[in-house]
Amino acid sequence: MSDMHNAPPTGILEVTDLCKTYRDGEVLAEVLKGISFSVAPGEFVAIQGSSGAGKSTLLNLLGALDKPDSGRIVVDGLELTADIKNERVERFRRDKVGFIFQNHYLMQEFTVLENVMLPLRVQGYNTTDAKQKAARVLERIGLGHRLQHFPSQISGGESQRVAVARAVVKNPPLILADEPTGNLDSENRERFIGVLNALQAEDKLTVIVVTHEAELAMAASRRLLMKDGKIVLPAAEAHAGPN
Ligand SMILES: Nc1ncnc2c1ncn2[C@@H]1O[C@H](COP(=O)(O)OP(=O)(O)OP(=O)(O)O)[C@@H](O)[C@H]1O
Ligand SMILES: [Mg+2]
Repeated sequence: MSDMHNAPPTGILEVTDLCKTYRDGEVLAEVLKGISFSVAPGEFVAIQGSSGAGKSTLLNLLGALDKPDSGRIVVDGLELTADIKNERVERFRRDKVGFIFQNHYLMQEFTVLENVMLPLRVQGYNTTDAKQKAARVLERIGLGHRLQHFPSQISGGESQRVAVARAVVKNPPLILADEPTGNLDSENRERFIGVLNALQAEDKLTVIVVTHEAELAMAASRRLLMKDGKIVLPAAEAHAGPN
């Protein structure tokens, strides 16, 4: 039987009974205590939960930046093994997942265009093709006039959109975003949500976003709430459907 979250059989992401405990000397922090859910291709899922609930921990596991103690993660047919240095898992990170962090980590010594070209260069694109593809994505999100600027010469909202461009430029099947609007004002937050929504609708991107912010969560097609190391459905959603 499928569980209460009604897992679609063709999930791009299948998470089963994920557990993670941090060990700090003698002190154990049991952060994830059996997380299970699945995400269908093209879904935009928001993960909510209070500070310390384990949202970033979960996102890091989904992107194979860290490994669980137990449980199973399958992304786009690939099972992420516990060995995150595994060659297949490294290829997964390179080709299958785009990250957007709250602190966008743009490379300061590279231009906006070069920052967005980077993931393509890592994938083996030549400079000309990478430049073309990166410029196209930047134009699409309204940054065509900022290609040759350096990160220090653009605003926080613009930087965050560059981070989106960098995450989506290689057309990964899965986009993971951790508090992506945390340091934006309301105008830039709306703009960011608009960009993400448009890309998601047009490119059928699957987006998982961790957020405290109601506005961003409400833009998602589904919301999952983390509490006490588990996923619980927000009470309000038990009656009112998404969309
Ligand atoms: N590397 C680590 N070593 C030890 N404990 C950690 C580590 N990373 C996170 N934790 C602990 O795990 C818990 C969950 O942290 P996590 O960063 O996943 O929370 P979060 O839900 O993302 O919170 P926030 O909303 O504040 O970003 C916290 O209590 C944190 O202190
Ligand atoms: Mg966090």
